Amino acid sequence: MDSSGISGWDQRPVIDTSVSHSARVWNYWLGGKDNYPIDHEVGDQFAAVQPGVVEVARVHRAFLVRAVRYLAGEVGIRQFLDIGTGLPTANNTHEVAQATAPECRIVYVDNDPLVLVHARALLTSSPEGVTDYIDADLHDPERILREAARTLDFTQPIALMLMGIMEHIVDNDEAYTIKDRLLHALASGSYLVMSDPSSDGVDGDAAVDACRHWNESGGIPPITVRSREELGRFFDGMELLEPGLVSCSLWRPNATDIGAPVEVNGYCGVGRKP
Ligand SMILES: C[S@@+](CC[C@H](N)C(=O)[O-])C[C@H]1O[C@@H](n2cnc3c(N)ncnc32)[C@H](O)[C@@H]1O
Repeated sequence: MDSSGISGWDQRPVIDTSVSHSARVWNYWLGGKDNYPIDHEVGDQFAAVQPGVVEVARVHRAFLVRAVRYLAGEVGIRQFLDIGTGLPTANNTHEVAQATAPECRIVYVDNDPLVLVHARALLTSSPEGVTDYIDADLHDPERILREAARTLDFTQPIALMLMGIMEHIVDNDEAYTIKDRLLHALASGSYLVMSDPSSDGVDGDAAVDACRHWNESGGIPPITVRSREELGRFFDGMELLEPGLVSCSLWRPNATDIGAPVEVNGYCGVGRKP
């Protein structure tokens, strides 16, 4: 760690603009500017196969906002571990949580070099709270837990956010093992917030085709698209909050939204560790 307080910042990140990266393509779909021509090209090809994906990105972020607001508000959670943060955008986890409870403590984790470059934008904590950024890989949960313990109190409840990242742990056994390791370290009354694309439901076949195209084009990191049943297994042993595992647009939509929410590909859920 260097004087910035961000682990990993002491090594100059290498940005490879010849291949598309998940964080940058996601940023492109969200209308951000932190991406390169290769990300536009591959992102457009992906959207040609799964036209709904741009709406998925928007709806998925809106779910993140509602879930964090609910947890910081009604539930009273004060600590968040957001793994697979993505590039800073509007309504980052700490901004949403601290708008409700300024004392919230947030640890962000990502392994993308460009996210590391922009991580300073995630460290704009309220004076009462704190944000930290860890440059680490979800394949190494022990390191994440060790470094997050600098900022978070693991004897108190934590909301673990795995938003659009388990799709990048392509082996099912490894994905469940990583999730189990992380949840095992959390206190009773902690939460899991998760969202991923799916081979089932709306646009399921298109999501599978688009994912295959991404992998064949060398997109980083590779993606897998799981069935609804496989996604539900991430909540095994937890109390899944109402309305259960649903399309992001259907998870407690705002009463002020106009019209009925339109279902998009993928499933999200919020579970409580008993
Ligand atoms: C689809 S984006 C989702 C961003 C954000 N969580 C959201 O919901 O809007 C996936 C993010 O996970 C990160 N990621 C993918 N694999 C990772 C890994 N093994 N370790 C850490 N971060 C990873 C990518 O760099 C990217 O920022």
